[in-house]
Amino acid sequence: MKLKNTNHTTKVLFYSKWDSIKEWQKVFDKENIKLINWPSDFKNKKHDIKYAIVWDAPNTLWKQFPNIKLIQSLGAGIDHILLKNYPKNSIITRLEDPDLTNQMTEYSILAVLMCYRKYFQYSELKNKIKWKQLTPLKKNEFKVTVLGYGIIAKNIIKELSKLGFNINVWASKKRELKHCKYYYGSSQFLKSVKNSNCLLNLLPNTSKTKGLINLSVFKLLNKESYFINIGRGKTVIEKELIYALKNNILTGSILDVFKNEPLIKSNELWKLKNVFISPHIAGITNATNYAAKIFKNNINAMTNQKYIKNKVSIKKQY
Ligand code: OXD
Repeated sequence: MKLKNTNHTTKVLFYSKWDSIKEWQKVFDKENIKLINWPSDFKNKKHDIKYAIVWDAPNTLWKQFPNIKLIQSLGAGIDHILLKNYPKNSIITRLEDPDLTNQMTEYSILAVLMCYRKYFQYSELKNKIKWKQLTPLKKNEFKVTVLGYGIIAKNIIKELSKLGFNINVWASKKRELKHCKYYYGSSQFLKSVKNSNCLLNLLPNTSKTKGLINLSVFKLLNKESYFINIGRGKTVIEKELIYALKNNILTGSILDVFKNEPLIKSNELWKLKNVFISPHIAGITNATNYAAKIFKNNINAMTNQKYIKNKVSIKKQY
């Protein structure tokens, strides 16, 4: 007698302009998941779809699949879903993967060290063909304020502390932290950034963080001061950032995210000598076995009404 195969293949809709379905299919094969590419795989065939894994899917996609129950983001951020007409009864999960956390940590360390070791000043001296040694600040006097306290921020703070930087943290929730000074809520925001040398932003784009970082914030920083952004571009008033950079209110800035991406050619930021630009690569999503397993476990958890990992709070918008 032939045994019945109970290990059903689960169909999952896939959409991304940036991520490779081929690479993801390789890791999902192990989880018995078949990715169905939108729109190409839907042209001649109907599929019963309850789950999706996406990056920046258009409204036309969401309109076609009102019964999707679980949406996995192909990135740490989920504003690309929340800002669209996604099926409101679905659960959204963000990507939390040690691979992504490590990349973001590497980028942050590189960026903070570039600022601390005066990358912008030495670039300028090089352009002038000038040999000049500048007085470094003491590391424990170089105050880095990290905005955000999610899983990625925690790792960054741990590694920056090991290097000996003086760290402040600001986030929305009340917490007691032993290893660094912690501030929370809107009333403590300006206090947290005051006299910082480096503002490292990891905040998501929510109604509370939109435009939070502006000229009045930059004016509170130390004389030698830097702004690093690996959170979301919309948390910053870009015009005021440009003003601060042009008027010596900020010494320099390292930017990986922008209000509008890709950053258009005419954007003034490209031309500023004290700005380092990277095209949203601080953390590149790789197709990992880890991420595939978590997603499969979440599908099972949904079916069995169990705990779903990395679930997004719609109320908090992250
Ligand atoms: C993001 C990411 O959400 O790069 O920005 O993961």
